[in-house]
Amino acid sequence: MRTEQPKMIYLKDYQAPEYLIDETHLTFELFEDHSLVHAQLVMRRNPARGAGLPPLVLDGQQLELLSVSLSDQLLEAGDYQLDDSYLTLHPASASFTVDTSVRIHPESNTALEGLYKSSGMFCTQCEAEGFRKITYYLDRPDVMSKFTTTVVAEQHRYPVLLSNGNPIASGPGEDGRHWATWEDPFMKPAYLFALVAGDLWCVEDSFCTMSGRDVALRIYVEPENIDKCQHAMNSLKKSMRWDEQTYGREYDLDIFMIVAVNDFNMGAMENKGLNIFNSSAVLARAETATDGAHQRVEGIVAHEYFHNWSGNRVTCRDWFQLSLKEGFTVFRDAGFSSDMNSRTVKRIQDVAYLRTHQFAEDAGPMAHAVRPESFIEISNFYTLTVYEKGSEVVGMIHTLLGAEGFRQGSDLYFARHDGQAVTCDDFVKAMEDANGVDLTQFKRWYSQAGTPRLAVSESYDAAAKTYSLTFRQSCPQTPDKVEKLPFVIPVELGLLDSRGAAMALRLAGEASAQGTSRVISVTEAEQTFTFVDVAEQPLPSLLRGFSAPVKLSFPYNRDQLMFLMQHDSDGFNRWDAGQQLAVQVLQELIGQHQQGQALVMDQRLVTALGTVLADESLDQAMVAEMLSLPGEAYLTEISEVADVEAIHGAREFARKQLAEQLFDALLKRYQDNRELSRATAYVAESEHFARRALQNITLSYLMLVGKPEVLAATIEQFDSADNMTERLTALAVLVNSPFEAERAQALAVFAENFKDNALVMDQWFSVQAASPLPGGLARVKALMEHPAFNIKNPNKVRAVFGAFAGQNLINFHAGDGSGYRFLADLVIQLNAINPQIASRQLAPLTRWRKYDSARQALMKAELERIRASGELSSDVFEVVSKSLA
Ligand code: TRP
Ligand code: ZN
Repeated sequence: MRTEQPKMIYLKDYQAPEYLIDETHLTFELFEDHSLVHAQLVMRRNPARGAGLPPLVLDGQQLELLSVSLSDQLLEAGDYQLDDSYLTLHPASASFTVDTSVRIHPESNTALEGLYKSSGMFCTQCEAEGFRKITYYLDRPDVMSKFTTTVVAEQHRYPVLLSNGNPIASGPGEDGRHWATWEDPFMKPAYLFALVAGDLWCVEDSFCTMSGRDVALRIYVEPENIDKCQHAMNSLKKSMRWDEQTYGREYDLDIFMIVAVNDFNMGAMENKGLNIFNSSAVLARAETATDGAHQRVEGIVAHEYFHNWSGNRVTCRDWFQLSLKEGFTVFRDAGFSSDMNSRTVKRIQDVAYLRTHQFAEDAGPMAHAVRPESFIEISNFYTLTVYEKGSEVVGMIHTLLGAEGFRQGSDLYFARHDGQAVTCDDFVKAMEDANGVDLTQFKRWYSQAGTPRLAVSESYDAAAKTYSLTFRQSCPQTPDKVEKLPFVIPVELGLLDSRGAAMALRLAGEASAQGTSRVISVTEAEQTFTFVDVAEQPLPSLLRGFSAPVKLSFPYNRDQLMFLMQHDSDGFNRWDAGQQLAVQVLQELIGQHQQGQALVMDQRLVTALGTVLADESLDQAMVAEMLSLPGEAYLTEISEVADVEAIHGAREFARKQLAEQLFDALLKRYQDNRELSRATAYVAESEHFARRALQNITLSYLMLVGKPEVLAATIEQFDSADNMTERLTALAVLVNSPFEAERAQALAVFAENFKDNALVMDQWFSVQAASPLPGGLARVKALMEHPAFNIKNPNKVRAVFGAFAGQNLINFHAGDGSGYRFLADLVIQLNAINPQIASRQLAPLTRWRKYDSARQALMKAELERIRASGELSSDVFEVVSKSLA
């Protein structure tokens, strides 16, 4: 850990590197109680920085320096300076070599950054700044180098030795050891370096690229998981084809490898030619992984593969530009998933997630722009804003330019910047140049944090047959205090007539109508658009497909929302109308709850969902989405002051009302689908996902009514399902039910059957940690005592604490502050084990502004306690201090 106070780094201070590293030659000697890293760096003065020879400052942390030479001259203590973070040398010529040997301790590295061990294998995680924990280096993304890596390890324990690029030599060594050398022909920054050594098996396949080259594909896993790789392999091949067809991007090396590891801070990492994945993002088969897990694997495999171009071939100049690769790559993987499954359903899920979680981030103390101006710890900026909002920003460019214009822009971007480390401005410039447009104002999306509001009002002039929409945009202040100027907000819209038909759209001044759905750009603080030839008062359908990440408001009444649910030609907006209707109804119930009144639900919500449920022509996945009421976290986000009990009480009341009143229809859809599930083998495909999604949500409603025949059906599904999707839903439904004996029985059976499968046990933990029944904290504490729990494993931490603090709001926000105290204790403990995970678990406490004053005080007190708890990692320090500022 550090010795000084962590300091803020600013984008405005960016300077190109003083020196470059043309070649990097690494040798790793891996042992059980330490490892040795020998590095030879072939370096020169960066000509862009002029002629002088300033000191060479190499990054390095937690390294034990054994020797250092400059151009083959062994240096003595006085020849260099060394502290906790840097090794400073004094080159005497413009070209030179640096040789270092260091000792490191992967065997005791619990931060999972740099070189570490996971389930007996060695692996690395270098993004963002982990390479400096491996060797002394210029650990910044604009220093790109050609890497050659030799790994030496005991043959018996580590038969497989991998690194980036192509294998060029290998052989036996002394004392039962062996070695392998890998060479990566592509220049890359150090954050894309990877090494793996372990006893791994692999599934092998091949892919013939668009130009006819054969690429070997390998997925490496622990031997017991060899039967769970096929879905990831299929996903990889689909991704490779899709990127050729959609973006013209061909893979470049002769081999592409994925390695699954059990201890990993995030989902996966795009190291050149050697992706390293959280095993939860690779392993999937019917018996052990849900449909959701299958889709997550498909999406993450694609995401990391797509980084080969958007991230690796064209990389980031500095970490402020992180969204250059992440926002664009999320946009690319979302396009892929939309093509593999249902575009509308994918959009609904992404928007629900963005609105719940990214909007909350944007409204909290860690709010930052898609391209932040400053940070203390870059690991804290792998955020929903950089990823998800960044993807929305790329999506808006796509909307503004159209598919063809966007493709021309991306072609120009890749051609112009191949092999370079560039900025978000370079990305936008390529889009502008390829299309002859000016995106200057649009770029405010990269620099201004906060979620814009867009208030819309209408006026219809029956005599003139004109219809005007007036848009007023504003953006709340964020902690960075950046002055908010108007955004360019693309609004896709349509107008419906009284029969629900789409009306032709002709703006004043246009010669003729232009379609029935179109995109207008709101660019001013207030702006009116007038449509002409509008024969009757229309109903507007606004922000179709969620064409911009804003909070739009229009004074719809509930009948109008029901009308849009039925008639809007835009599937996303049909869903959204249902959500807006549900929000209105739930807010009314929340008000009744707060006034101590009896809860009375507006029957229109029952009618609307009943209609959806009865319509067998609708996509079943859509029906499932429409039946899902807005979550408690979303209701919290849209509240001025969130009332935890009222939100939970109102939503549960509404769910029960729907279950009771729609019981027969729910039962029919459930039984039909369960019948089909019983009759067909599991298939991980879109149509089947859809069927099971509806089956499962109907079951969770039905169980709220507490009839014995539903309990019997749940137990039948739990016992005899041939797949984890049905089994886990049945388990969750039982866990949240009042049937104590059946719940205990199911939990015990499940744990007994799956005790050896860590990923399945994660689900078992999660389902319990998320249960809203009273006594949640005690249950969570008991889970931590279970033998399968391990605080050093991030998946376990997420399964238990992530589920508790993120999904179990009624228990986490207990009025006595016990949930907050528990989370703070955990963060203090994790701070010393794994700062990145500690900092992430802290997020719920940063949302204190949303709650009543009693809870605010309790949450702040816990943040204060963390701050005073001792030596904080830069990760936790930044979040705590910004939350209390
Ligand atoms: N670049 C990775 C991605 O695909 C993110 C990532 C993986 C990461 N591991 C990490 C970021 C560790 C920070 C720390 O999105
Ligand atoms: Zn990524």
